[in-house]
Amino acid sequence: MPLTRPQNDTLLRALRRQPTEYVPVWLMRQAGRYLPEYNATRARAGSFMRLCQDPALATEVTLQPLDRFALDGAILFSDILTIPDAMGLGLAFVEGDGPRFERPLSDEAAIADLRAPDPARLRYVFDAVASIKRALGGRVPLLGFAGSPFTLACYMIEGRGGSDFARVRRLCYGRPDLLHRVLAINAEAVGDYLVEQIRQGADAVMVFDTWGGLLSTRGYLDCSLAYIQRAVSRVRKHDASVPVIVFTKGGGQWLGAIADSGCDAIGLDWTADLRAARAGVGQRVALQGNLDPQALLASPQAIQAEARAILQAAGPDPGFVFNLGHGIVPETPPDHVGALVSFVREESARMHAAAQRENLRKPA
Ligand code: CP3
Repeated sequence: MPLTRPQNDTLLRALRRQPTEYVPVWLMRQAGRYLPEYNATRARAGSFMRLCQDPALATEVTLQPLDRFALDGAILFSDILTIPDAMGLGLAFVEGDGPRFERPLSDEAAIADLRAPDPARLRYVFDAVASIKRALGGRVPLLGFAGSPFTLACYMIEGRGGSDFARVRRLCYGRPDLLHRVLAINAEAVGDYLVEQIRQGADAVMVFDTWGGLLSTRGYLDCSLAYIQRAVSRVRKHDASVPVIVFTKGGGQWLGAIADSGCDAIGLDWTADLRAARAGVGQRVALQGNLDPQALLASPQAIQAEARAILQAAGPDPGFVFNLGHGIVPETPPDHVGALVSFVREESARMHAAAQRENLRKPA
């Protein structure tokens, strides 16, 4: 069965740096606890992991933000920690305390025993992708995703989030051999995981490197970016045309190196200067970002002023996707998200039309 091309392919065109009539927008964690309908479905599921593991429920929550807002993309509802869970580390989400692993990689023996996951244990994710793709009926593109090999290693070694991952950083400098073993296994697993999501219908994929920014420059290049690159080349070998987005939170000083990793687009957090980022990477890659998620708690007027500044900094050239600099926070009023999404669509359409008129007026 040929996979349908999305009717609204603005997001895919922007990721490929092709001209668009307006700047496409989607938001990290667009399906989540700020939406009352998400909380209702999650309550029905019983837990966050059960929500991820039931393809029908994962489909339902993926579509919820699209029914409210004119978003240009859907993102698979799942989590980055599915891979280490499938490796046997025993994932649990503790209410109000984030993720925990029952069997973290706490010593050398555990690291020596680590193996790539059995793909059958990730079947629920691939089934969710196929189910979401069918339910979308080509409305907008579907993004698949995975954590970066390093970000996964942070949780696998530390056993939990919410720290500065001191153990992992010590390994990076003190016992790089142990860390590199974990990273090599993760890179292979991440690459295969993304390829299977693409087989099941993902139109683009994103690598979330939430913690690469904690490293020194050398540490980042050797322990995070090098393994992102391995995963991306596995994806490329399977399918050279599907856009790949790489997001390293706190990675603003390494954009040139990230652009050389073989990705199509770079996600920027809110601390990055968009003009400087574009000047640094030129037209090699698309950029995505970068409104501070906390700005969504300000007034709609203040949100629009921030969004306008981002659109102006992005400029009229192709290759920009509007997003947040990190995930939406649960306290966000849904109306503010609506105000942002419609503003970005209307304002960017106006800016693009004005730039086009300007171009027509210029002598050939
Ligand atoms: O963007 C989307 O809408 C898609 C879904 C998505 C989730 N997690 C759902 C989720 C994506 C892309 C992720 C990625 C993810 N998960 C990352 C990388 C991006 C980032 O945010 O930095 C990380 C580090 C994780 C690990 C993770 N999952 C943590 C640390 C937490 C707890 C933090 C929190 O917000 O409570 C989660 C849980 C999680 N993942 C939730 C959602 C909607 C909240 C769970 C709930 O409903 O209780």
